[in-house]
Amino acid sequence: MTIGVPKEIKTGETRVSMTPSLCRRCVSLGARVLVQKSAGVTAGYTDAEYRAAGATLVGDAAKVWRAADLILKVKEPLPPEYPLMREEQTIFTYLHLAAGRELAKVLLKKRILGIAYETVEGGDGQFPLLKPMSQIAGRLSIQIGAYFLQSQHGGSGVLLGGIPGTMPGHVVVVGAGNSGAHAVQMAVGMGARVTVLDLDSRKLEALDSEYRGRVVTLMSNPANIEHAVADADLLIGAVLIPAARAPIVVSRRMVAQMRSGSVIVDIAIDQGGCIETVRPTSHEKPVYQDSGVIHYAVPNMPALVGRTSTMGLTQVTEPYVALLVQKGVDRVLAEYPHFARGVNTQGGEIVYGAVAKALGRL
Ligand SMILES: NC(=O)c1ccc[n+]([C@@H]2O[C@H](COP(=O)([O-])OP(=O)(O)OC[C@H]3O[C@@H](n4cnc5c(N)ncnc54)[C@H](O)[C@@H]3O)[C@@H](O)[C@H]2O)c1
Repeated sequence: MTIGVPKEIKTGETRVSMTPSLCRRCVSLGARVLVQKSAGVTAGYTDAEYRAAGATLVGDAAKVWRAADLILKVKEPLPPEYPLMREEQTIFTYLHLAAGRELAKVLLKKRILGIAYETVEGGDGQFPLLKPMSQIAGRLSIQIGAYFLQSQHGGSGVLLGGIPGTMPGHVVVVGAGNSGAHAVQMAVGMGARVTVLDLDSRKLEALDSEYRGRVVTLMSNPANIEHAVADADLLIGAVLIPAARAPIVVSRRMVAQMRSGSVIVDIAIDQGGCIETVRPTSHEKPVYQDSGVIHYAVPNMPALVGRTSTMGLTQVTEPYVALLVQKGVDRVLAEYPHFARGVNTQGGEIVYGAVAKALGRL
């Protein structure tokens, strides 16, 4: 099997899909690994390290795509990469197809076997390849929010932790899953007042018992969301319905009630966003204002910390990549049903129900 590792081209992306150590493992298992030159530099890995691990370094992205049976990436393929895909190639990466109609059309036309990191399941109903990036995005969301709350960055000038004798900032987190729980942890650590909402009472119970009343937990319904959002200095969107477009849980009317200079970080933007006023932004221009509120909605937040994110991602992808090399794609998908849940497109069809539903007729 030939594995291709192209350099990521999404604006501001710094992660790479394979570390030199994963490369060494794949080569030892019998794979040929082609790494595009400088693919790992932004994550702190030099070409020399990949060469020493047994990779062949290739100057041109097109050559990597053309020669590979399996393309290993981080972010979904972007339009300049569409013509590079080979018919019936396997691509293993984050795909986020529910919010990616054009990409879906290309994958179907080229009969690509598209395995999405975000829908591979663990035996426990969790999504192990989504988890570390969600944890990173959740943790980052608070430091990003704190930054944009600063007066010089257009914010309201609220210090999340306050000081004795002043009111701390109020952080409202909608969604108490992997990203939401880690946002809560950081917000508590900074000394903010924290409110978290979810539909799943077990998630709220776990946070209530962990923080012993230090965090306010609320069932997610329109009345509770409206009440909490109206008083938020920093609002974090962190909901997910697996593989579906994110539901809009915060309306434009609710955002309009927020204090001027407050900040929204919608982590769920990669699935379309869960706040009505949000549209995707990029690392180059991460924020815009709407209704006097600063909006941050970068779909690849973990790229801000490329080194940690690359280590976090590859430590969970490694067992799956190793299986693909050892057994070949067909056998692995037949023998490991939880891994096979990652397959979103195959033989010119969308085979993942929630994605098919989100996209409708293509
Ligand atoms: N922007 C980025 O860079 C980035 C990085 C990583 C993950 N993400 C995205 O963040 C989102 C959240 O991921 P996660 O791993 O935390 O998901 P998760 O499944 O761990 O948690 C999602 C939570 O949302 C809750 N939920 C669903 N509908 C809700 C509603 N109406 N109100 C309140 N809560 C609701 C669920 O009960 C669950 O607890 C996903 O879209 C994921 O792709 C984005």
